[in-house]
Amino acid sequence: MAAKFGLGLAALGRPGYINLGHAEDLGANYAIGAMRKHAHGVLDAAWELGIRYFDAARSYGRSEEFLANWIDERQIPASDVEIGSKWGYTYTAAWKVQTPEGVAHEIKRHELKVLQSQFQSSSTLLNQHLDLYQIHSATLESGVLENEEVLLCLEGLRKSGIRIGLTVSGIEQSETIDRALSIRFQDKLLFSSVQATWNVLETSATESLKRASAAGLSVIIKEALANGRLTTRNDSPTFAACRAVLEGIAKENDSTVDAISLAAALNQEWATTVLSGAASVDHLRSNFKALAVNWNQGIESRLAELVQTPDEYWNQRAELAWN
Ligand SMILES: NC(=O)c1ccc[n+]([C@@H]2O[C@H](COP(=O)([O-])OP(=O)(O)OC[C@H]3O[C@@H](n4cnc5c(N)ncnc54)[C@H](OP(=O)(O)O)[C@@H]3O)[C@@H](O)[C@H]2O)c1
Repeated sequence: MAAKFGLGLAALGRPGYINLGHAEDLGANYAIGAMRKHAHGVLDAAWELGIRYFDAARSYGRSEEFLANWIDERQIPASDVEIGSKWGYTYTAAWKVQTPEGVAHEIKRHELKVLQSQFQSSSTLLNQHLDLYQIHSATLESGVLENEEVLLCLEGLRKSGIRIGLTVSGIEQSETIDRALSIRFQDKLLFSSVQATWNVLETSATESLKRASAAGLSVIIKEALANGRLTTRNDSPTFAACRAVLEGIAKENDSTVDAISLAAALNQEWATTVLSGAASVDHLRSNFKALAVNWNQGIESRLAELVQTPDEYWNQRAELAWN
C-alpha cells in the first residue's frame, strides 16, 4: 500500500456541506459547542487509528478553530502532527445549512489581499502547527498561477518554512497541476504538495499526479468517495450498476463499498496521503477497512470499468445539494 490516511475537516467544521447525507450525520444539531464536540470525537478516533495529517481550510467554517482547540486540549506537540490549510475561499454561510437565495456558501478570490489576510487568520489560530498552506481550488482560468504578487508572497512563506501546496478541482485538474510544476524560484519548485480529486469514477489526473510525485511533491487525494457517492448511501438508480460491482468486490473481501473505493486510492503508488472525509466515527472505522483489502490486479481491472468521462463526473458533482 503506497499511501497513508489523512482526515479532512470539510464535513466537520460547518453546518452545511454537499456530501450526500451531511444533515443526517450531524443529527441536525448545529450548536457550535455540539459541533465542536462532534469534531473532537472524530479527531480523537482518527488519532487513535494513527492518522497524523489533518486538512482544513479558511472556508470550512470553524474547522481551523476546532482543530486548534483539539490540539491544545490534547497537548499535541507540533512535531507529532501535520496540519494543512487553504486560502482563497471565504466562508459566507453564516453558520447556516442553506443560504438565502443569491447568497453563496463561500466566495472564491485568489488575490494577494485575500492570501495575506487569510494567512494571518490561519497562522494565528494554528500557530506553529501550520505546516502546509494550499491555494484552494486553483484553476488556470482564475489566473492565480500567473499572478506574480501572489506567487512572490507564497515564495516568501515557503522561505519562512511553510510548505506551499495547491488543490485542484474540475475538468482541468491535469493542466493546472502541470502548470504548477513549471513554477520555480531560483530553480526551486514553489509547490511541494498537490491535492487533487481522484476516485474510481474520476481518474483523469493520474498521469499529471504521477509527474508531480516524480518531481518530489507529496500527492494528497481528496474526494476518494466522490463526496459520499461511492458508499451504500447512494441509492440513485444511475449508480446501481456501479454499486453492484463495488458490493461484489466488497463481499468477496469481507469489506465495505467505501473501503474498496478508498483502497483503490491508497494503492496508487504515486499517492502520499488519502483523505478520509468521515463525518462520524462510524464512517472512519468503515473507511479504515480499506487497509485490510488484499489489493490485486483483478480488483483493479474490475474497477477500471467504472471510470466516467471528466465532463460526466464534474457535471454530476455540480448537482450535489448543500445539506
Ligand atoms: N477543493 C478542495 O481543496 C477540496 C474539495 C473537497 C474536499 N477537500 C478535502 O478532502 C476531504 C475529503 O473530501 P470529501 O469529504 O468531500 O469527500 P469524500 O471523502 O469523497 O466523501 C466523504 C463523505 O462520504 C460519506 N461517507 C464516508 N464514509 C461513509 C460510510 N462508511 N457510509 C456512508 N457514507 C460515508 C460521508 O458523507 P455523507 O454521510 O454526508 O454522505 C463523508 O462525509 C475534505 O474534508 C477536505 O479536506 C478539498
